[in-house]
Amino acid sequence: MLRKIMKWTGRVLLLLLLLVIGYYTKAYISVENRRQKVYTIKPLHLDIPTDSANIALGKRLVTVKGCDDCHGKDLGGRTIFEKEGMGRLVARNLTKGEGGLRPGFGTEDWIRAIRHGVQPDGKPLIYMPAGDYNQLSETDLKAIIAYCSQVPPVNRKHPDSEIGPGATIATDLGALSLFEAESIDHTLPPPPAQEEKVTAEFGKYVALVCTHCHQPNMKGKPEEDGTPDISSTGKSAKWTDEQFFRTLRTGKRPDGTALKAPMPWQMTSAFSDTEMRALRMYLRSI
Ligand code: HEC
Ligand code: HEC
Repeated sequence: MLRKIMKWTGRVLLLLLLLVIGYYTKAYISVENRRQKVYTIKPLHLDIPTDSANIALGKRLVTVKGCDDCHGKDLGGRTIFEKEGMGRLVARNLTKGEGGLRPGFGTEDWIRAIRHGVQPDGKPLIYMPAGDYNQLSETDLKAIIAYCSQVPPVNRKHPDSEIGPGATIATDLGALSLFEAESIDHTLPPPPAQEEKVTAEFGKYVALVCTHCHQPNMKGKPEEDGTPDISSTGKSAKWTDEQFFRTLRTGKRPDGTALKAPMPWQMTSAFSDTEMRALRMYLRSI
């Protein structure tokens, strides 16, 4: 009797194991296909300025658009996530130093990466939030490239980003979106240059960099990943302007609690008064 039970338990376990292996193989192949997909993109044709005003504008934008939050203050890159079984995300070294951009990385390659989330060979970059940047104006895009192209070289080699088994499954199930290139309309032109004014329209432009976490409707995904609603129906809509600005500048809410990672408040702390007021106006209008 006992023997029979053991035999059956063994068979059930074997069957389960085969099912798990079968599912994982399917997930792995599917994610690998997405990773190897080649996007045919016609990058904008832009002449990159080299004057000091544009470089200064680019330096500011690299902070307020969050680039240096991931790629490091010196743009020498850093590992932004690493966990056994999940994988590793490396925001690459964007300088011309050792371990930096490949030789000949030109304006079109910058545009492909920033606006489309795609590498020079057409394959998607992993976790680079190009969806937030696809609608940057030409003026802003040019200034960012102008600044990045002339930063001092940083010699820092990194291992490649890696999609581990956990991340493969999460990506296959749609719980993790690693390839921004998949959700971008690659034919959209950039919007006209934005006037820095306290208007909801400019606020919407400022809020582009909030969308990959708080979602395009700014309602977040409180149940799924804890990203709060910051639209007019969210808790923060009840704060005074002063409280709202102070929270985004200091990383502390009016009730004293800290804004936890991954909320990039170092990025919002660099917002100008106009950017803050316009952002607030936009968030309250939706
Ligand atoms: C949320 C983190 C994050 C932010 C914010 C971010 N990046 Fe990235 N970026 C990455 C990651 C991760 C990679 C590498 C992806 C890979 O390994 O496939 C990357 C890759 C790149 C590359 C490709 C480099 C190469 O060697 O091919 C460029 C260029 C780039 N980023 C520029 C920018 C710029 C400019 C900004 C701001 C406008 C920015 N990034 C903002 C995470 C980020
Ligand atoms: C990388 C993801 C990410 C990005 C980008 C991001 N946020 Fe957040 N934000 C979060 C998370 C996660 C929290 C919750 C933090 C916590 O639990 O303490 C948060 C919290 C907040 C809060 C506090 C809300 C509350 O109800 O307590 C505000 C306000 C906020 N974010 C505004 C913004 C704005 C404005 C932008 C864009 C300029 C932005 N965030 C960009 C992830 C992000």
